[in-house]
Amino acid sequence: MKTTKLVLTRKKPEQFTGDLLVFCFIQDKNGKPKTTKTLCEKELQKAITLGDFSCKENETLLLYSERPGKEKVYSGRVLFLGLGKKNDDTPAELRERCRQAGGTIASMAVKVKAKDICLSLPSVPGLKSEYVTESVVEGLLLGDYRFDKYKKADPENAPFTGIKKVSLCAAKNEKELRQAMLRAQHSADAGCVARDMANEPGNGWTPASFASYAKDIAAMHKMKCTILGKTEMKRLKMGGILAVNQGSSEAPKLVILEYKSSVKKAETILLVGKGLTFDSGGVSLKPSAGMEDMKYDMCGGAAAITTMAVVGAEKPDVNVVAIIPATDNMSGSSALKPGDIIKHYSGVTSEIINTDAEGRLILADALAYGIKKFSPDCVVDLATLTGAVILGLGHHRTGLLGNNQKLIDQLCKAGENCGEPLWQLPLDKEYSKQIKSDVADIKNTGGRPAGTITAAAYLQKFVGDTPWAHMDIAGTAWGFTKKKYIPKGPSGTGVRTLVDMIRNWKNNLIIKNKS
Ligand code: BES
Ligand code: MN
Ligand code: ZN
Repeated sequence: MKTTKLVLTRKKPEQFTGDLLVFCFIQDKNGKPKTTKTLCEKELQKAITLGDFSCKENETLLLYSERPGKEKVYSGRVLFLGLGKKNDDTPAELRERCRQAGGTIASMAVKVKAKDICLSLPSVPGLKSEYVTESVVEGLLLGDYRFDKYKKADPENAPFTGIKKVSLCAAKNEKELRQAMLRAQHSADAGCVARDMANEPGNGWTPASFASYAKDIAAMHKMKCTILGKTEMKRLKMGGILAVNQGSSEAPKLVILEYKSSVKKAETILLVGKGLTFDSGGVSLKPSAGMEDMKYDMCGGAAAITTMAVVGAEKPDVNVVAIIPATDNMSGSSALKPGDIIKHYSGVTSEIINTDAEGRLILADALAYGIKKFSPDCVVDLATLTGAVILGLGHHRTGLLGNNQKLIDQLCKAGENCGEPLWQLPLDKEYSKQIKSDVADIKNTGGRPAGTITAAAYLQKFVGDTPWAHMDIAGTAWGFTKKKYIPKGPSGTGVRTLVDMIRNWKNNLIIKNKS
């Protein structure tokens, strides 16, 4: 994992001698660029007069400044970057614009191989300067992402290995800005690690990899880490995860990571993430076209576990527990079959109609176990659970369902703040009728109608009255809507939503469900 050094400097931008100096500008209400005196002043004004540059959103102009006698150490590259019009965008929308600007800077850095960057940020009407900083830096770090560990390096054309240093020019609010940069670094780094996990193939990232990452985080931040293996799962009668793992030669793991706040009477948030390291569909085998993408079926688990790295670094006043049920879903002579009846950890029996509806089976055990063991004040689960959510919402929003409107609203707000929008789907009790079975308590599919909702209805059977929300990230975990700071493959979605929710957590935020 690369690390980018972030520094605040009191120096003027003109004194910067690194690879790329960036000035961001905003347009006034009439679309006129509001520039301040800068390097390349004449050239910039000329470009504006000719209409070549007007500070539109994500518009760039790269110029080269001269400083006689200094050429040897002075690249003189100056990037002008537009933030678009001053209008009545909400703070969340302005933050997203700044993040996109950060992503644009990252792509320019690749183009000119700039390792050492300096930012001069404008004041953005309607958005506190610490948020301008946080969002630009977050977008920049999220945009500066590549996964080339399995590629042979080309000696002729050395690849760009990332931005090494970002300096921010700041004359005031140093403390706030320093904290803002740190927040950006924590959340962007976690998002990039989640992408790394997802980019690893099924033979590179296994249930054991989740376990060893969790142990590392626990050691680094003094958290408690527990790994349940197959023997413990059998003892605890976790029939769901064991059933899904039946066809596999890779051992299943239930990975548990606990952060305990130093605050007395702190509430507890439980995160549960689907860690399906490869989903072949099992005996109900998936079509081969596109099956390779099913290595991404662990993105919910990746989001939950990397969020814990941020929790460890920031030590919020709320307890956070993450549980990742991890296994792959394979077929073979010992694999789970359609028609089989399994018994979950909670005692609920389930008729297997389709072995490809495996996510709910492993989540059911993890949810029931986590709720029993930790009595959390709320639970949020994340899973690449259904193809149906892509039909409903496309690749632009995560599906959100649950049994507590306060918690749902909280997650929606968090998603909006960080550019990971969610959309609530209904979960009326009628949907549960679709998963009634003739031979068991429930069955694991509800037919074609409302596939995302019936999957959530299945999970709901295992959460009781605990305030619970379910994020179906099947459409957003990879191939997420086009953004400057989101690469083509896995997006790392969910991490920043959870982080934002945890950062803004206060006791009694969630009104308990009536039992
Ligand atoms: N991991 C898949 C869901 C998925 C599909 C995620 C496509 C991303 C893209 C999940 O395990 C699955 O196979 N779900 C089935 C459920 C069905 C059999 C009821 C689905 O959505 O087709
Ligand atoms: Mn499946
Ligand atoms: Zn799956």
